[in-house]
Amino acid sequence: MCGIVGYVGNAQAAPFLLDGMSKLEYRGYDSAGIAVYEKDGIRVEKCVGRLDALRHKLEGKMPVGTMGIGHTRWATHGRPSDRNSHPHTDESGNFVVVHNGIIENYLMLKEQLIAKGQKFASDTDTEIVAHLFADFYEGDMEEAVKKVLRTIEGSYSLVFMCKAEPDKLICTKKDNPLIIGLGEGENFIASDIPAIIAKTRRTYIMSDGEIATVTREGVWVQDINGTPITKKVFEVNWNAEAAEKGGFEHFMLKEIYEQPKAIKDTMRGRLAENGTEINFAELGWTAEDFTGISKIFIVACGTAYHAGIVGKYYLENLARIPVEVDIASEFRYRNPLVDANCLTIVISQSGETIDTLAALKEAKRLGSRTLAVTNVVGSSIAREADQVVYTYAGPEIAVASTKAYTTQLLVMLMLAVYVGRLRGTLSEAKAAELAEGLHKVPEQLHDMLENVDQIKVFARNYGSCLDAFFLGRSLDYAVALEGALKLKEISYIHAEAYAAGELKHGTLALIVEGVPVIVLATQEDVYDKTVSNLQEVKAREAMVIAIALEGDDSIAKYADHVIYIPRAGKELAPLLAVLPLQLLAYYAALTRGCDVDKPRNLAKSVTVE
Ligand code: M6R
Repeated sequence: MCGIVGYVGNAQAAPFLLDGMSKLEYRGYDSAGIAVYEKDGIRVEKCVGRLDALRHKLEGKMPVGTMGIGHTRWATHGRPSDRNSHPHTDESGNFVVVHNGIIENYLMLKEQLIAKGQKFASDTDTEIVAHLFADFYEGDMEEAVKKVLRTIEGSYSLVFMCKAEPDKLICTKKDNPLIIGLGEGENFIASDIPAIIAKTRRTYIMSDGEIATVTREGVWVQDINGTPITKKVFEVNWNAEAAEKGGFEHFMLKEIYEQPKAIKDTMRGRLAENGTEINFAELGWTAEDFTGISKIFIVACGTAYHAGIVGKYYLENLARIPVEVDIASEFRYRNPLVDANCLTIVISQSGETIDTLAALKEAKRLGSRTLAVTNVVGSSIAREADQVVYTYAGPEIAVASTKAYTTQLLVMLMLAVYVGRLRGTLSEAKAAELAEGLHKVPEQLHDMLENVDQIKVFARNYGSCLDAFFLGRSLDYAVALEGALKLKEISYIHAEAYAAGELKHGTLALIVEGVPVIVLATQEDVYDKTVSNLQEVKAREAMVIAIALEGDDSIAKYADHVIYIPRAGKELAPLLAVLPLQLLAYYAALTRGCDVDKPRNLAKSVTVE
């Protein structure tokens, strides 16, 4: 997965390219490069490392020209190195390409091109695209690109540039995101909106198979057969500031603090402002829509998968439909028993995770109805699913997902209430109680965020540990999974989550003096059992931090420390209980000097299998 940008206009291209790439570093940051159309030809500058390494390289010798393309890479084919960095060119250097995705038949094509005498300069799959582009070019970029697309297989967003046509970029996509920003006398290309938002809010969101010719005068879109396509302008309704850190030290912290707003935005229009009715106008479901549905599958990856586990609980308990939750990369290959009597819900913040997209396609192929829960309007998953419910968390830049998770929980809860009411499995009174509770969540989160000093101290004290354990029962267990993932992902502390009752079946052997164990005890129906498990670890001299409900004084007798959350009710507790876990992970990572927003080996949007 990678970030790509393009510029054609009257201003210097390089500053925009570098700035746009900095907004896309969340998509990959192991190497970076730009190509600018200079007076005497196309100049390519690239190097391994973060964007700053490229900036450093260009100091005092910035390419001069008003058209160019750029790329920030996360390696898939060919290790991170100067030679594998993008842009890639043919042998002459006159045909230049940036690419996000994987060309699956590149080896076969490379062999054919080598047999024709062509020489390759990198180990990437992308380089063959530049060679093919050159090979097919007969004075018409668009026609050459079409021939390339007929030849390659795989997933891609691509931008093409050619010395013979100085004022034109061509871009196209399949299964990877691409947008075009529409300016005055200038136009922009990018993998994602943050790269262009400082320049324009008017965009075209490209669909698979579309080929756009982008010049300073305008943008023309066609399909591979040359049929013109009229695109609708998509007006971005969030501003440049929203994509910036807004005064916080890290995007992750900013995004944690944005949760009250994200929750409010996601509720808006679905939960009556002064009432208790929950409705999804975008779905327009009726009771009949569920008469034939015998099972729901929830499929997702990482944090979104953890939201799915909570979603299973909600749907089974409130809407009384059996639910299976699957890791997307497993679902696709395990021959799941999916048919037309199933509804498959995929959850994805980015809407671009390739495992989730592939699982969605598989569910569709097997005849299932599909629903996407995603944060990115116009994303591949949003477009592929039969129906979409958006989380309105706003752009999530930090690799570690926070506000996307809480808005996913919210959507799953509201969906369960909506379906429960449609099916008559949920009483009006219980639905109203949940809705009233939901109204309070933003304020409760806000108040919790005002009091984080205690969490900072815990993180400082225990940030040097090697291992940590997270325990909980029922919904607390689902939240424990997310707490452990957050800690591992950004602080590199080894962390495991266990159903509290399961610990004694093996893992208790790992509990020794001083090991931090975070015990979630917010679920009152299993509270006593959870406290027994807490005592089991305390008896092995673990250091226990309990996450408990306000007013629970008795737990302080057993735990070393207690972090209290408001009493919101069983189903709502996960929305609040995850907040201290996110903050613990954040401050532990800070204590350890980790690169919080860009943890090692990870990227925000995982568009490779
Ligand atoms: O964009 P998605 O929600 O599909 O991403 C899924 C996972 O890659 C993502 O949640 C990942 O686990 C996060 N980095 C966790 O913080």
